[in-house]
Amino acid sequence: MNDQASKLRSLEKRRVHQVKVSNSVRVIAVTSGKGGVGKTNFSVNVSIALQEMGKSVLLIDADLGLANVDLLMGLNPKFNLFHVLAGQKSINDIILDGPGGIKIIPGASGLYNLANLSQTEIDGLIKAFNNIDLPLDIIVIDTGAGISKNVMSLVRASKEVVVVTTPEPTSLTDAYAVIKLVHKDVEKIHLVVNKADNFKTAEATAQRLTNASLKFLSTSINYLGFILEDKTVFRSNMEQVPFYVRFPSSLPSKCVMNIGRRLLEGELDFPVREQTVGGWIKKFLSFMRK
Ligand SMILES: Nc1ncnc2c1ncn2[C@@H]1O[C@H](COP(=O)(O)OP(=O)(O)OP(=O)(O)O)[C@@H](O)[C@H]1O
Ligand SMILES: [Mg+2]
Repeated sequence: MNDQASKLRSLEKRRVHQVKVSNSVRVIAVTSGKGGVGKTNFSVNVSIALQEMGKSVLLIDADLGLANVDLLMGLNPKFNLFHVLAGQKSINDIILDGPGGIKIIPGASGLYNLANLSQTEIDGLIKAFNNIDLPLDIIVIDTGAGISKNVMSLVRASKEVVVVTTPEPTSLTDAYAVIKLVHKDVEKIHLVVNKADNFKTAEATAQRLTNASLKFLSTSINYLGFILEDKTVFRSNMEQVPFYVRFPSSLPSKCVMNIGRRLLEGELDFPVREQTVGGWIKKFLSFMRK
């Protein structure tokens, strides 16, 4: 019996080791059509929630225009992907420790011209991502607003995307435009309704979008839930502490916790094939060059 148990344990160890070696993860890009709908707040806080639920999470600030994940956490990064590309730092040097044990790759506002990288630089970047020396389960990518090539390539390269919308019609139309652009490349499209004033508005918003996607794009959307509009979000942003940490029993924190749970339940309900970190960046760069 004991012998069998120790065999099982060593098998399990080997399995964990294999997962680490292949660097296989869930890559989840967070996007929206319209700006200012709460992507960065969602990305930061859901990352902390997922980490609290036992996952190892890396949050990448991929807003190449106005990088600001670090601002929401009061971090002051000295180095970013720019320094990795320039060969001044290794990727492991620039990864920061964030709240709740999450890891962060800070944003690099100067990386607009990723489309123009030389082959050597591309190979360097892929190698850098393959060399991330961390046991990771989930990568959350906070993207910029809009449907620029940068943003769409980041999303298309990821197997999963969370589209964030508010109940406002303009935000909803823009969210639909994003879904229309990426639904053929992405394996699973999730939806979060942010800044909802109540459950009913959120449900109606989600229904409108899921119905339209099913009817016109034959794409089913996985509604993860909503986040209520609440002043604790503004207050925590002012204090530069994520609301999940600063106001853990606030309504937005409870909403984020539910969404985190839904994301993990999804691992059983509709398993998404994992990707390797290097494979993801390779795919992203190839979309950029198309
Ligand atoms: N649930 C919420 N309740 C109240 N205010 C919120 C909520 N979510 C976000 N906000 C506010 O909305 C504003 C935009 O939030 P955030 O920066 O997260 O959006 P974003 O989508 O990342 O913006 P951008 O498109 O510029 O990257 C902030 O002022 C934030 O405090
Ligand atoms: Mg943002």
